[in-house]
Parts: sequence; C-alpha cells; structure tokens
Amino acid sequence: MIAMATIFHGTYGENDAIFEKFKECTDETSTIIKHIASIIGHGHRALDIGSGSGDIAIWLSCWNDSVIAVEPERKMLDRLREKMASLGIDNVAIIPKAWENAKIAGSFDTIICSHAMYFMKDWETSLRKMVAMLDDHGKAFIIVHADDDPFTNFLTRFEQEIDPIKARHDPHVASVVMAIVSRIPGMTARVDEIPAIMRFASIGAAIDVCPFFFECSPGSITRDVKAELESWFDALDHDGREIVLRYKNAAVTIQKK
Ligand SMILES: C[S@@+](CC[C@H](N)C(=O)[O-])C[C@H]1O[C@@H](n2cnc3c(N)ncnc32)[C@H](O)[C@@H]1O
Repeated sequence: MIAMATIFHGTYGENDAIFEKFKECTDETSTIIKHIASIIGHGHRALDIGSGSGDIAIWLSCWNDSVIAVEPERKMLDRLREKMASLGIDNVAIIPKAWENAKIAGSFDTIICSHAMYFMKDWETSLRKMVAMLDDHGKAFIIVHADDDPFTNFLTRFEQEIDPIKARHDPHVASVVMAIVSRIPGMTARVDEIPAIMRFASIGAAIDVCPFFFECSPGSITRDVKAELESWFDALDHDGREIVLRYKNAAVTIQKK
C-alpha cells in the first residue's frame, strides 16, 4: 500500500501552505468533527494520528483532559503550535514522528486518524498498533475516502494515468480498513459516509489549491480522463465561475466487541 490518493503531490512539509488553502475551500473538517461529536462525549485521553496543522487535535483538546498529536512534518507542527498559542491551548502534546515510529504509552478513549493512512506503507500493522491502544470502551475513527465515491474514483483514474507505476496500489477506501479490522480478534467496526463539498471561487482558485490536476503535460492523460477533469472542474475554459465539487469521506469506527 503506498501513498497516492490525495490531491497533493509531494509531502505535506512541501505543501503546508496549499493544504491550509484547501482547508478553506472544503467543509470536510467540520463535517468530520460533527460526525465524531455525535458519537463521543467528554474523554480523558485522545490521540490524533497524522494531525497535520491540528484542527481536529484542537477540537479534541476542548473535550478531553489531554491530547497527543502525532505528525512527522515540522511545518505542519509549526502551524499547529501557532494555533495552540493563539488559542491558549496547553493540553496537546506533540510527537514529531511518523506513526510507525511513534512510541506512546498507555491507552486512549478516542483515537482519530483522518486522511493520514494513505501515507503509511503497511496499513495492517499501522491499524493494529492503533487499536491496541484503545481503552475497553474506547473508539478509533479512521477517516478515508468512501467506497464508490465518483470523485475518489476519478482521482484514482487520474493518478493511474499520470503515474501508473506509483499508482499501483490498493484503493484508499473504507472497505480496505473494514477487511483489516475483520482480521483483528476482539474488534468490531462500522462505516458511516460523510458528505463534503469543495468550493472554488474560480478555476484560477482551483488551480492554486490542486495544481496537481493541472500540471501534467499534454498527452499524459487520455481524452476520457481529460473530459472528466473538465466536467469536475466545470468547464475549465470559463474563468470567473464558482466551482463546486461534491465528494464523500468515510468514517470507520472501531471498538472492542
Ligand atoms: C491529509 S493530511 C490530514 C491532516 C489532518 N488529519 C486532517 O484531517 O486535516 C495528512 C497528514 O498526515 C501526515 N503524515 C504523513 N505520513 C505520516 C505517517 N507515517 N504517520 C503519521 N502522519 C503522517 C502528513 O504529514 C499530513 O500532515
């Protein structure tokens, strides 16, 4: 399993500014938080894996005595520290490491890994490490792309055309997580779909936020995929028009049986 299904190429250390812009164009963080908030209440210890610049970790810090944010990219962590300082938050501890290398003691009542699984090479080992840290009544929320989501399918086809060798991977969708959980004794899981909307004021704004779609050389994508790109980005030749993309994330909630 390799990291591919993401609208950014390169690491989040290289794309931190674009990622912050992307966050302003999508409602996905608030829809993810709303979904998780409908399931959990006040907790003692929460873990946010692949926290990025920390919007979810910061939300968790309001509902938990303490939070641990695990994130390997220094620039993302600088942004998280800035947000914490400006909000006066002091109950988030940072572990500046990849999840695979993070050493953490104890257990948690909430574990969240939102859109960070894609960057882990061995999903099964990473997931087993997460669920092993759940309290008896704890819940882990793994946020990935929803199965059969048209935008995710387009993203996958696009990546396969521009880089077929790198793109040879299992799909980064909820059913893959569910299949792994079914092999972990004593654990049960369910999937909920979370709709999200991306809005760009114009095609220029879309190109700023997802340059990867627009940087490929002519001829590297087939006519079919080009037509699909144009339909997702709503007539690429008409600047000045708002572009609205609807897509679905999935939350896999894992707990002990
Ligand atoms: C798409 S961002 C998601 C950020 C945040 N969780 C959210 O939902 O807004 C993915 C994050 O995972 C981080 N990441 C990459 N490899 C990782 C790994 N092996 N372990 C933990 N996090 C990783 C990236 O640096 C990036 O900040």
